[in-house]
Amino acid sequence: MDRMISPEPSNEDLSFEKSLRPQYLSQYIGQEKVKHELAIYIEAAKKREESLDHVLLYGPPGLGKTTMAMVIANEMAVNIRTTSGPAIEKPGDLVALLNELEPGDVLFIDEIHRLPRVAEEMLYSAMEDFFVDIMVGQGPTAHPVHFPLPPFTLIGATTRAGMLSAPLRDRFGIVSHMEYYLDSELTEIVQRSAEVFSTVIQEQGAIEIARRSRGTPRIANRLLKRVRDFAQVQHDGSITKSVADQALDVLQVDHEGLDYIDQKLLRTMIELYHGGPVGLTTIAVNIGEETETVEDMYEPFLIQKGFIQRTARGRVATELAYRHFGYQQENE
Ligand code: ADE
Repeated sequence: MDRMISPEPSNEDLSFEKSLRPQYLSQYIGQEKVKHELAIYIEAAKKREESLDHVLLYGPPGLGKTTMAMVIANEMAVNIRTTSGPAIEKPGDLVALLNELEPGDVLFIDEIHRLPRVAEEMLYSAMEDFFVDIMVGQGPTAHPVHFPLPPFTLIGATTRAGMLSAPLRDRFGIVSHMEYYLDSELTEIVQRSAEVFSTVIQEQGAIEIARRSRGTPRIANRLLKRVRDFAQVQHDGSITKSVADQALDVLQVDHEGLDYIDQKLLRTMIELYHGGPVGLTTIAVNIGEETETVEDMYEPFLIQKGFIQRTARGRVATELAYRHFGYQQENE
């Protein structure tokens, strides 16, 4: 079974998100710091009639990086072309995209840390001086052709800025960190989405969904859809707190937004390793996941929520984690 609370998008999420997407900064809920800064840079670029400087958006998956890129293009009143690092297999794929850009346009590259090296290197001159040198022909007749580009804005998205090479990172004039959303912001997002789908939702119902969504709009919207199904089939269609509670319990998403894998991970640390310190690989083996998956997908949220701490000797389950499962913390 796919995790209900996976931050990675399913195809269903992607079409749902498209219909929910805010168009302008004023409609975008949350990310106040990022919005505030971008609003200034966008206004300045428009006043000077220049393209916006290149933007790097980084932060955990599901927080609205693609949406933000689209909002930026909309605010600049330019076209946006979107692609992703893994979709670009060879330099020619990138050239084809660059070739279609009009002055001021946005090129959005999701998962930019996964660009092949040769494509990444081609971006250096494209970003800095708006040209690429392409090799034409083969063998002894091969020669570079200088290919000028219109001024454009590259928006790159990545889950961790540290995964980018320094030369690429340094070419972004604007670097914005997307943060987990506050429960109050997620509540607003859930209410807005419910309205888009003509679903009646009580504030307490929206709060409950928000609370269990790990600070992530993608998860909030996914949980809303499933809760709406329960409301429609087993109740009168409107989402109250009690309908939300029942549905989320069935979906095995607990009050803190932890699912069975998170719970298994924490219980393993507590029950088998006395709360740690325990190495990440050991934890991963115990719960049957890859070390990297644990590091990228489960751990950041558990650390952010204060259930796990990273120490030099390994991971440690906190008192909060003990209390969450009704355990007494053991003394050192
Ligand atoms: N839908 C998903 N994320 C959103 C956001 N940050 N603002 C408004 N609507 C959204």
